[in-house]
Amino acid sequence: MNIKEMQEEILRLKKEKDILILAHAYQSQDILEIADYTGDSFGLSLQAQKAPNKNVLMCGVRFMADTVKVLSPEKHVYLANRNAGCPMAQQMTKEDVQMLKEKYPEYAVVAYINTTTELKTVVDNIVTSSSAVHILKNMPEKDILFIPDPNLGSWVAKQCPEKNIKTFQGGCPSHLRITKKDVEKARAQHPEAEILVHPECRKEVTELADYAGSTTGIMKYAQESSAKEFVIGTENSIVQHLQFACPDKKFYPLSIECVCHNMKATTLVDVYNMVSGKDQEEIILDPALMDSARHAIERMIESGK
Ligand code: 13P
Ligand code: SF4
Repeated sequence: MNIKEMQEEILRLKKEKDILILAHAYQSQDILEIADYTGDSFGLSLQAQKAPNKNVLMCGVRFMADTVKVLSPEKHVYLANRNAGCPMAQQMTKEDVQMLKEKYPEYAVVAYINTTTELKTVVDNIVTSSSAVHILKNMPEKDILFIPDPNLGSWVAKQCPEKNIKTFQGGCPSHLRITKKDVEKARAQHPEAEILVHPECRKEVTELADYAGSTTGIMKYAQESSAKEFVIGTENSIVQHLQFACPDKKFYPLSIECVCHNMKATTLVDVYNMVSGKDQEEIILDPALMDSARHAIERMIESGK
């Protein structure tokens, strides 16, 4: 079977079996083409909540499939590749949060969606990169512990000067590979280009960029900007997707090292194996755990809209 034939077979089977395919923007082009919805973490959560289908297949990483399951426990939810995790989601446990709460009892705890379902049961609020500033601004608390990404946390803090935000060690290993030197090199090599980065990048990288935002935010900015050249500081699949979306513009990676091997673990063959019933990784979570995490995720969707 070639790629086109496999895509056609996936489209036929997903319709026949009532499977909704959600794909994060970091997935490869052949997967984005067969997905019902592609976007950032916030957009995926929104789609997961309103999807009418009995079955949902997540092409992304595990916490994203878990989020879909928590929002729709009655649905069968699958992860396209069972090995696709997010290293950042493993950086803090529920117990770590409980210890922080004891140390800073007057602070509210805000967690990035890139965390485990267990951790989500003990935090005050959950955010995605595209909803974080809006959600924090609307929180009544001034003192906030932001976990686990200190880079996203300091980007949010800069836009919410009225808040007292504490961050901790951690971060996305893929985005951390981009350095200040990469930005300086890009400015010298592409003086006409706009530099667009994800706020998971180091603080000194984000501060030098022309725009920082979620994956969907970066795509939208590049599509709407009158500039003709862009340097992209996020997972390098976005460089390729933008090149397809805007063939008249030029896109360069800020660093060829910004690759998320977990996002890249999923292939079109994994999707085909799932829809044809050959190999399926169904998400099974404890109902009590889902019940205690659901409220915070629903609140995140409501306040981030
Ligand atoms: P967004 O999808 O919110 O842009 O986040 C990027 C990411 O790293 C997902 O894990
Ligand atoms: Fe996790 Fe970073 Fe990969 Fe996103 S890009 S899934 S935060 S490791």
